[in-house]
Amino acid sequence: MQKDLLTLADLDGSEIRFILLEAAELKSGGPQPLLEQRTLALLFEKPSLRTRVSFEVAIRQLGGDSLYLSPAEVGLSQREAVRDVAAVLSRYVDIIAARTFSHRVLEEFAAHAGVPVINALSDREHPCQALADMLTLEEKKGHLAGLTLTYLGDGNNVANSLLLACAATGVNFRLACPPGYEIPQDVVVAAGKFGGGATYEVSHQPEEAVTGADVLYTDVWTSMGQEAEAEKRHRDFAGFQLNSALLARAAENALVMHPLPAHLGQEVTAEVHYGPASVVIDQAENRLHAQKAVLTFLLGERDTGHRAGG
Ligand code: CP
Ligand code: NVA
Repeated sequence: MQKDLLTLADLDGSEIRFILLEAAELKSGGPQPLLEQRTLALLFEKPSLRTRVSFEVAIRQLGGDSLYLSPAEVGLSQREAVRDVAAVLSRYVDIIAARTFSHRVLEEFAAHAGVPVINALSDREHPCQALADMLTLEEKKGHLAGLTLTYLGDGNNVANSLLLACAATGVNFRLACPPGYEIPQDVVVAAGKFGGGATYEVSHQPEEAVTGADVLYTDVWTSMGQEAEAEKRHRDFAGFQLNSALLARAAENALVMHPLPAHLGQEVTAEVHYGPASVVIDQAENRLHAQKAVLTFLLGERDTGHRAGG
């Protein structure tokens, strides 16, 4: 059976551990020709720096090739039906990473694709980001289980995948957000299914939520596609900015994380973003290593021994 990565809930806990181990190994081992003759298509409805470049470099360093299709070139659902694009592309390439506005469009795309499809960010999840984040956290802290991560901000795509990744690896997750911006309940239920024993708490008091945390993580208040709500969100999230006063309440040697791009002076201050606790550039680098592991895993070049096929 073909495997996709649309949500981290598509993987079980041991597959997530396997991908993280592979990523660490590929990072330390340098370029390896695991994906010779394989082609990755990148189909993007929204802009990207990290996701696009890290995927392109990842497959090239593994001996394969990539091609990038911009929104204007494809016109998903406009120039051509989603299912036709998926079916046709699948006859040319071996794997597809797609960045869509709507997660439903991504699901429809994957349902009609004949090759594995990777979520390169939808309005619901950003699984590749969360895998790179876990890799970063484990490198910096030496372990994952038992850590506490506080996410300050919107219960958005990044938060959803991060909660799933934390649940799968035993990291306790605290969400600090204004009322009405919580992580959707079905994502919380999916996180609970990993059964790793990690806790999940929601607070509307940022000072309380950051106290003693090992990691403070934030993301933009207004995600791509939500621009019309930017003013309201700016008002609602005032008080949830990751600044030095909040950082001072976290555990000693706490880390500051952000998927980037950051809006300095909004969700995070420049002082904290560029300060000694910040690991945001390491996170960005680890997108490359984590994506190599995802590509080789989905293309069946590295098998955990228990997945259905590739
Ligand atoms: N973090 C992230 O996905 O960045 P891009 O939007 O630049 O790909
Ligand atoms: N939540 C942000 C993440 C960007 C990488 C967005 O969707 O725009």
